[in-house]
Parts: sequence; C-alpha cells; structure tokens
Amino acid sequence: MVTFTIEDHEGNRQEVEAPDDMGLSLMEILKASEYPVLATCGGMALCATCHVEILEGGADDLGEATDVELDQLENLPEYFPTSRLACQVRISPDLEGAVIKLRGEDN
Ligand code: FES
Repeated sequence: MVTFTIEDHEGNRQEVEAPDDMGLSLMEILKASEYPVLATCGGMALCATCHVEILEGGADDLGEATDVELDQLENLPEYFPTSRLACQVRISPDLEGAVIKLRGEDN
C-alpha cells in the first residue's frame, strides 16, 4: 500500500491509502474515495476532468506528462508545471508521501 495526501477544491487535505500492486490509476482511486472527479472519458486521456496538480513529492519520480496528456492539459484554461491527468498516473510506490491537489472541474 502507498499513502499520499489529496487536497480537495476547498483546500482540505486527507490521507488516502491505495494498493500499489493492482495497476490502478490515481483517477480510479480518487473516484473510489468519492472525490468529485468526473472522468467523463473513462480514463482515456480525452476529457481532462481528472486534472490534478502534484504539489509535493512524487513529481520527479512520476515523470513528465506524456504528449497525449499535454495535449489535453494545454487546452485547459489553467494548468501548472506539475499538472497531470490522474487517469494517466499509475499507483506506485513513487506516490508515497506525495501531495496531490484536485484541479479538474467538479460539476
Ligand atoms: S478521465 Fe478523462 S482525461 Fe482522465
């Protein structure tokens, strides 16, 4: 299991624990934890509603956003150097201790 922190749209932080051996995406864990992530495209890197910003930790190890992610992120009104699409981030030990802020639309 890995433990990381999610900051919601109101700035509230909560630790989330997730299995790192099931090939799940961060988006799937956010939805399972009942965060307001629309994920309209179902994780195909097409909708960008799963936009998150990696505030602390993890960013280096998680690597850069892929080209397909960047295409989506660049279409957003606002994105950040450590923005990612949560559906393209696999739950792995690299996420241990990371702080992740929800940035996608929640309605
Ligand atoms: S769920 Fe649509 S881009 Fe991630």
